[in-house]
Amino acid sequence: MNLFLAFLLCILHAAECLPLNSPLLDSYDYIIVGGGPSGLTVANRLSENPATNVLLLEAGPADSNEPWIQIPFFAGQGVGSSLDWNLQTVPQTFLDGRTRALPQGRNRGGIGDYDDWVALGNPGWSFWDLLPYFVKSETFTPHPQSDAANAVGINQNPLVHGHSGPVNVSFSNHIYNETVNFFSALNELQMPVSYDPNDGTTAGASFLPLSLNPANQTRCDARSAYFEPYATRPNLWISTNQHVTRVLFEGGSGNPNTTIPTPGDSSVGQGNSYSRPDGLFSNITQNAIVSKRPRPWPINLVLNAFTSRFRKQKREPTNTPITSGPGLLKANGVEFASAASAPRKNITVVREVIIAAGAIHTPQILKLSGIGPSSELQPLQIPVMVDLPGVGMNLQDHALVGVFYPYQRPTSLTSVQIASNYTLFNQFGAIYQANRTGPWTAGPPDGNAFPALSVLTNSSLSIITKAQTQKATHWLPTDIHPNVLAGFDAQRQLLTKALQDPKRAVYELLNFNYGAFSNVNMRPFSRGTVKLISSRPFDPPIIDPRYGSNPVDLDILLASIVYNRKVLATTPMKLLQPLQLNPSPNATDQEILEFIKANLQTEFHPSGTCAMLPLDLGGVVDPQLLVYGTQNLRLVDASIMPVIPASHLQAVVYGVAEKVRTELREPL
Ligand SMILES: Cc1cc2nc3c(=O)[nH]c(=O)nc-3n(C[C@H](O)[C@H](O)[C@H](O)COP(=O)(O)OP(=O)(O)OC[C@H]3O[C@@H](n4cnc5c(N)ncnc54)[C@H](O)[C@@H]3O)c2cc1C
Ligand SMILES: *[C@@H]1O[C@H](CO)[C@@H](O)[C@H](O)[C@H]1NC(C)=O
Ligand SMILES: *[C@@H]1O[C@H](CO)[C@@H](O)[C@H](O)[C@H]1NC(C)=O
Ligand SMILES: *[C@@H]1O[C@H](CO)[C@@H](O)[C@H](O)[C@H]1NC(C)=O
Ligand SMILES: *[C@@H]1O[C@H](CO)[C@@H](O)[C@H](O)[C@H]1NC(C)=O
Ligand SMILES: *[C@@H]1O[C@H](CO)[C@@H](O)[C@H](O)[C@H]1NC(C)=O
Ligand SMILES: *[C@@H]1O[C@H](CO)[C@@H](O)[C@H](O)[C@H]1NC(C)=O
Ligand SMILES: *[C@@H]1O[C@H](CO)[C@@H](O)[C@H](O)[C@H]1NC(C)=O
Ligand SMILES: *[C@@H]1O[C@H](CO)[C@@H](O)[C@H](O)[C@H]1NC(C)=O
Ligand SMILES: *[C@@H]1O[C@H](CO)[C@@H](O)[C@H](O)[C@H]1NC(C)=O
Ligand SMILES: *[C@@H]1O[C@H](CO)[C@@H](O)[C@H](O)[C@H]1NC(C)=O
Repeated sequence: MNLFLAFLLCILHAAECLPLNSPLLDSYDYIIVGGGPSGLTVANRLSENPATNVLLLEAGPADSNEPWIQIPFFAGQGVGSSLDWNLQTVPQTFLDGRTRALPQGRNRGGIGDYDDWVALGNPGWSFWDLLPYFVKSETFTPHPQSDAANAVGINQNPLVHGHSGPVNVSFSNHIYNETVNFFSALNELQMPVSYDPNDGTTAGASFLPLSLNPANQTRCDARSAYFEPYATRPNLWISTNQHVTRVLFEGGSGNPNTTIPTPGDSSVGQGNSYSRPDGLFSNITQNAIVSKRPRPWPINLVLNAFTSRFRKQKREPTNTPITSGPGLLKANGVEFASAASAPRKNITVVREVIIAAGAIHTPQILKLSGIGPSSELQPLQIPVMVDLPGVGMNLQDHALVGVFYPYQRPTSLTSVQIASNYTLFNQFGAIYQANRTGPWTAGPPDGNAFPALSVLTNSSLSIITKAQTQKATHWLPTDIHPNVLAGFDAQRQLLTKALQDPKRAVYELLNFNYGAFSNVNMRPFSRGTVKLISSRPFDPPIIDPRYGSNPVDLDILLASIVYNRKVLATTPMKLLQPLQLNPSPNATDQEILEFIKANLQTEFHPSGTCAMLPLDLGGVVDPQLLVYGTQNLRLVDASIMPVIPASHLQAVVYGVAEKVRTELREPL
C-alpha cells in the first residue's frame, strides 16, 4: 500500500487515524528515535497498548514505495540515493544506507554466536532465549520445493519459524541455473549443508530465505511489516524529516550547542551523495498483480535432536522491572529539528526515550547528549552527564571483498545480461508484472555458504595461532580506555574459540549469478570507532571502521579467496568456464593481499558501538538495554551487539527489538 492509499484509508476509516507527520503532542509516554527495523518494531509493539502514546522521530524522508525498493531484482539500488545518509568512512568506503534492508540474506547466526553474548555477561540472550522473538517477527512461507530448490539444498525446519508475525519471509520464484552449479561445487568439496540456515546451525552451504511477500514477490520491509498495517492506530505518531539533536535530562542543562540553529547551513546531517545510474528505473510500473498462491508444502521434516531442546527452552520471559535509584539520570524529552538551520523543538517524555538510530548515529546522539568518553566530550565542551568510555568504540562490520569471475558459458541469462539489454529487461519485466515469476523476483546474489575455518585446512592452524598469541593491545588504538581493552580481550578469546570450531562459520561465500563471489569476514577481530567531529548535531560523525587493522582478518579473507580457486576448479563450476582475471590464478599471497586491500568494502553491517557488556568491559547498556547511569534511556538497534553474529543483521535486529519490548514497563 502506498502512502496515498494509507492516507485514503485513514480518511475512510476513522476520524482518529493519524497519517504520517500529524501535528505532535507536547508529551508522549515513549519517544523512539529512528525509523529503521528496530525503531519501527518497538513503536509497533508499544502502541499495541491503546493507553500508551508513542512517538517515533525519523531523520530521513519516507520512501514512496518506489519500485526499486519493492522489486527484488533492483536490490542494492538505494545506496547513494536520497534515502542514503551517504556518509563516508575515514578510509574511503561508503557506509550506512537508510532504513532499507536488501532482500538477500535473512538469517540469524549460529547458536554459538549468542552463547558468546551470554558468556560476555548477558544472561537471557542465548539463541534459545531469542528464538521466540525471531519466530514472533515473521510469517514464514516455506519453499514449494521445486526441483531447482532441491538442487540447491533448500530445507526448512518449521519449528524455528513463525506463522503470524509482521515480516513476510519466503523465497524468490526464480533460481538462476548457475546457482545450481555453485551448490553442486560445494557438494563436490564436501562442504556441509545446513539443514535450515535459521535453526542456529549455519556453518556450511545454505540458500537463505528473503524478506519477501510470497504472493506478489515484492520486498517486505520494516515499514510495510510494522507500520502500514497499523497506521490507523490513534496512539502511534510517526514523524519524518525530524532529526533528533539530543536527549534532554531532568536537572541538567546538557549540551547547549545542539540548540543553536546554524542559519545558511542547509545540511541535514548527510554526506555528499554520488550520482547513481537510474535510467532503468523510470520505466517500471506497478500494477496487474496476479496472485500466485504457493503450493502446499510437502511434509518432509526431519525432527533433529535440538527439537526437544527448543521445546524445553521456549518460555515467555518475565518482565524485569527497572531499578531506578538516586543518582540515575532521567531522560525527560528530546530536542529535534528538521534541518541544521531550523529552530529546535522539545518534546517531553513520561516513561522512556528509546534510541534506535543505528550503529553510526546512536553513539553520535548519546555523545551530543553528554553520554560518552569524557576525554572526547570535554575538548568539545560538551558537559559530561555520564562518563561512558565505551560509547562509539567496538565498531564491528563484516568486511567484504568482491571477486569477479565472469562466466564464458553461462547456462541462463544472467542479471547483468538482463539489466544491460532493454529488450530483455522489458521482456522479464512483463513476465514479472503478469505472473510474478522470472528473474525480476530475485536479487543478483543467489546462494550462500558460511564455511568454518576448518574448510581452509592449510591456513587454519596458523590463523588460529596468530589469534591466540596476540595481545589485546596489539592492534587497537593506543589511547583506548582499559575497560574497552578488557572487553575486546574477552571477545578475542571467544572469537579464537569460534575459529577452532568446525560447526561455526568464519566467512561468508556469497554467490552472484553472473559470475562473482563476495568473500566476507564473519568473525572480525578489527575494532573501529565512531567519534564526533564537533558538538554540532548536523555534522556527520567521524567513522573509522579500521578494517583489516587486525591481521587475523586479512588472513581469513586471503585464505578464503585462495579457496575460491578450489571452488572454481570443481566439475560443475568448470562447466561455466569462469575467467580468473584479477586476482589471476597464479597470483601470489602478497598479490592477493594487495587485491584485498584495494577492494575491501562494507557488507553494510555496522554494529557494536554501544555494546551490551558489563561496565568493566567497556559496556554502554545492560542486558535490559538500559544505558548505564540512566533510569529510562534505552538503546534498541545494531549498536548493542557485543560481538557481531556470523549472519546478515536484519533478522537479528528484528529479534532484538521484539525481545526488548518485553523488558519495557507497561504504563501504570
Ligand atoms: C545497502 C544495505 C544492504 C543491506 N543488506 C542486508 C541484507 O541483505 N540482509 C540483512 O539482513 N541486512 C542487510 N543490511 C543490514 C540491515 O539493513 C541493518 O543491519 C539494519 O537496518 C540495522 O537496523 P537498525 O534499526 O539498527 O538501524 P537502521 O536501519 O540504520 O535505522 C536507523 C534509523 O535511524 C535514523 N536516524 C539516524 N539518526 C537519527 C537522528 N539523529 N534522528 C532521527 N532519526 C535518526 C536513520 O535515518 C535510520 O532510519 C543492509 C544494509 C544496507 C545499508
Ligand atoms: C504486495 O503485497 C503486499 C502484501 O499484500 C502489499 O502490501 C503490497 O502493496 C503489494 N505490492 C504491490 C506492488 O502490489
Ligand atoms: C504477507 O503476505 C500475505 C500473503 O501474500 C499478505 O496477505 C500480507 O499482507 C503480507 N504482509 C505484509 C506486511 O506485507
Ligand atoms: C522507457 O520506455 C520508452 C518506451 O518504451 C522508451 O522510449 C524509453 O527509452 C525508456 N526509457 C528508459 C530510461 O529506458
Ligand atoms: C529545550 O530544552 C532545553 C533544556 O531544558 C532548553 O535549553 C531549550 O531552550 C529548550 N528548547 C525549546 C525550543 O524550548
Ligand atoms: C559550541 O561549539 C563551538 C564550535 O565547536 C565551540 O567553539 C563552543 O565553545 C561550543 N560552545 C559550548 C557552550 O559548548
Ligand atoms: C536452465 O537450464 C535448463 C536446463 O539446461 C534450461 O531448460 C532452462 O531454460 C535454463 N533456464 C534459464 C532461465 O535459462
Ligand atoms: C538484447 O537481447 C535480444 C534478445 O535476446 C537480442 O536479440 C538483442 O540482440 C540484444 N541486444 C543487444 C544490444 O545485445
Ligand atoms: C503468464 O503465465 C501464463 C500462464 O502460464 C502465460 O500464458 C503467460 O504468457 C504469462 N505471461 C507473460 C507475460 O509471460
Ligand atoms: C593444502 O596444501 C596441499 C599441498 O600444497 C594441497 O594439495 C591442498 O590442496 C591444500 N589444501 C587446501 C584446502 O588448500
Ligand atoms: C600469471 O598468469 C597470467 C595469465 O594467466 C600471466 O599473464 C602472468 O604472466 C602470470 N604471472 C606469473 C608471475 O607467472
